[in-house]
Amino acid sequence: MNKVLAFDVYGTLIDVHGVTTLLTEMIGEQAMAFSNQWRAKQLEYTFRRAAMGGGEQYRNFAECTRAALVFADTLMGTALTQEQQAQLLAIYASLPAFPEVADALGALHTEGHACWAFSNGTLQGVTGLMEYAGVKDHLDGLFSVDSLQTFKPDPLVYNTFAEQNANGEASRCVLVSSNPFDVIGAKACGWRAVWVQRNEQNVPDDWELKPDQTITSLNELAAAVASL
Ligand code: LAC
Repeated sequence: MNKVLAFDVYGTLIDVHGVTTLLTEMIGEQAMAFSNQWRAKQLEYTFRRAAMGGGEQYRNFAECTRAALVFADTLMGTALTQEQQAQLLAIYASLPAFPEVADALGALHTEGHACWAFSNGTLQGVTGLMEYAGVKDHLDGLFSVDSLQTFKPDPLVYNTFAEQNANGEASRCVLVSSNPFDVIGAKACGWRAVWVQRNEQNVPDDWELKPDQTITSLNELAAAVASL
């Protein structure tokens, strides 16, 4: 039976370090360290808001991203101006897709798998990125946590997606993600999961739940999905 593929967006389809060119112009050689700090804090804020129960404590991914930028700037003493911060946040709306993404998604879609963007990002943010990357037509739809007012890896996110898009059959859902926390979250809900280990610095967690397959780029995804 064909699978329902749920693609994580930031870090999996879209290169979150696409901001480093502009960051390098602004702060020189601290750019990569800043980008890593920004990304780590952004995720931490989503985890914290979900752990606090979402709902009233929920703020969307764009707000987590903005607050994390302010934190990274304070921590690193980079003294970015309001205008520079606004420029960096604007770039977040047009980050580049990884180079193989369009071809890989097109091929999987043609094979008959349902392909969804499945993201902590807002519907507006993810729609813009998918259009900008030219891959929106390869997707059956976009799923954002925003309507649930929580974030991955809250099980509510995976379970709601499975109910809405796979008749509640969790084992038909396949998460494709470069984020180990996302892979573990999906496995905990009975999904299959393919981990995209885009670089060797992205090391696995020592956890009882493991990905079903590990690949290094989406070029390997069709074969990985066929083996599930
Ligand atoms: C997403 C983030 C977690 O797209 O990468 O959901």
